[in-house]
Amino acid sequence: MMNCVGHLAPGQWTAPDDRSVGYLDTDYWVELAQVLERGLFDGLFLGDVTGIYDVFGASPAAALRTAAQVPMNDPVPLIPLMAHATRHLGFGVTVSVAYEAPYLLARRFTTLDHLTRGRVAWNVVTSYLQSGARSLGQTELRAHDERYDRADEFLEVCYQLWEGSWQEGAVRRDPQRGVYADPDRVRPIVHKGRYFESEGIFQCEPSPQRTPLLFQAGGSARGARFAARHAECIFLGAPTRNGLRTSALAIRAALEQAGRAPDSAQLFGMLTVIVDETAQRAQERYEAYRQRGSYEGAIALLSGWTGIDLSGYQPDDTLSYVDTNAGQSALASFSKLDPEREWTVRDAVEFVTIGGRGAVVVGDAVQVADELQSLMEETGIDGFNLAWVESPRTFHDVVRYLVPELQRRGAYKTAYAEGTLREKLLGRGPYLEAPHVGASFR
Ligand SMILES: Cc1cc2nc3c(=O)[nH]c(=O)nc-3n(C[C@H](O)[C@H](O)[C@H](O)COP(=O)(O)O)c2cc1C
Repeated sequence: MMNCVGHLAPGQWTAPDDRSVGYLDTDYWVELAQVLERGLFDGLFLGDVTGIYDVFGASPAAALRTAAQVPMNDPVPLIPLMAHATRHLGFGVTVSVAYEAPYLLARRFTTLDHLTRGRVAWNVVTSYLQSGARSLGQTELRAHDERYDRADEFLEVCYQLWEGSWQEGAVRRDPQRGVYADPDRVRPIVHKGRYFESEGIFQCEPSPQRTPLLFQAGGSARGARFAARHAECIFLGAPTRNGLRTSALAIRAALEQAGRAPDSAQLFGMLTVIVDETAQRAQERYEAYRQRGSYEGAIALLSGWTGIDLSGYQPDDTLSYVDTNAGQSALASFSKLDPEREWTVRDAVEFVTIGGRGAVVVGDAVQVADELQSLMEETGIDGFNLAWVESPRTFHDVVRYLVPELQRRGAYKTAYAEGTLREKLLGRGPYLEAPHVGASFR
C-alpha cells in the first residue's frame, strides 16, 4: 500500500466499489489492517516516495490528473493506529535515506518498534525522483551509485545507535533504588564519516528488535550489493517468471559474495492476484481493470521510475535498456531482465496499470494457488508482496478465496507465531545476528 489514492493501479480508483479515496480516513486503514490480520498476512508494506512524477512531458499534470502517487501523505503515522487495532500483523515502511539525518530516522524507528511491540520493518530506499531532490533543497539528485555509498554509511550510523549505545541490561527500571537506567551501560557513539557525523548517546532505550527488520528493493548492480550487505528481506519486481528467476538468482549470488548464506535473506516477489469465486468472474474483472486502467497515469509512473520522458516515444517503440540516474531496475525489468520477452512502450504502460511491474495472476482459488506454488518452486523466492487493483477488495478476495485454499494445501500458516516480526518471519531474533554486519555493532 501507499498513503495515497493510486499506488500501482492508476485509474482504478474510479471503479464503483473502490474505496481508495478513503486513504484520508483512519477507519480505512484500521479496517484494512484487520482484514489482513484475519487472513494471517505477515505484514502490510507501506511504500513511500519523496517528490512528484513530473518526468513525463516535463510536467506533473498527468500524475495530478490521474492521482498517480500524488496526492500522497506520510505513511509512518498510519502504523501506530493500525498496530493498536491488531496484535500480530507486521508493518513494513519505506523511508528514504536521501533527505534526513540518521539520528532522527533511528529515533523514529525505535519509537515505532516500541509502539508496535517489535512489529516494524524498514524498507531502505535511496530515492530516484529529481523533483524530490529539488523540493528538499538539492539542485541535483546525487549520482545513482553514490546514493548507495551514502546509504551504507547511513546504516552504519543507525547500527551504532540501535545496537551500540545501550548495552543489554542498561535499563534497570528499579523503583526500589530509584534507578531507571544504569549510566555505566550507556555510551556515546562517535561517528565521523564521509557523509555523516554523530556524537553522543542515543536518546531511546532499546526496542524489542533494536534494529527494525531490514528490507531492500533496489535491483541495480549497486542496489543488489547494498541489499546483500544489509537486507534481511528483499523485494523483487519482475513482470515475468523468467525475470523473477533471474533476479532471485542474482541476489542469492550477491548474498554469497557478501559472505552471507544465499538463503539468509527472504525474497518476496511483487505480484497482483485477481481471484474470485469462479475463473470466469476473475477473468471478467481482469478485463474490466484493463479497460479502466489509466494509460496516462501509468506512463507518468514509468517515466518517473526510469527517468526517461516517454512522451518522446511512440507506443510501438521497443524499450531497451540504458543506464539512467533514476531507478535502474524498473527499466531493466521491461528490457534486459528477460531476454525472451520484448516490450513496446504500450505493452509496458498497459502492464503497469495493474499492479506496477509485478506479475499478474488471474483465476479461481485453485488456479491462483497452483500458480503461486509453481512460481515459488521455479524461481526460488520465499513469498509474495501483493499489490492491489481495487482497495480494499483485492485483499478481501485474497483472504476470502485464496488463503483457505493455500491452507488446505498446507502451504500457508493457520496461526501466527509469537514474537517480533523478525522472529515470526525469519525464525530467529529478536535482534540481528552474526554474520549480519549490524550485529557487530552491538
Ligand atoms: C516491491 C518494491 C517496492 C518498492 N518500494 C519503493 C518505495 O516504497 N519507495 C521507493 O522510493 N522505491 C521503491 N522501490 C524501488 C527501489 O527500492 C529502488 O529505489 C529503485 O528500484 C531504484 O534503485 P535501483 O536503481 O537500485 O533499482 C520498490 C521496488 C520494489 C521492487
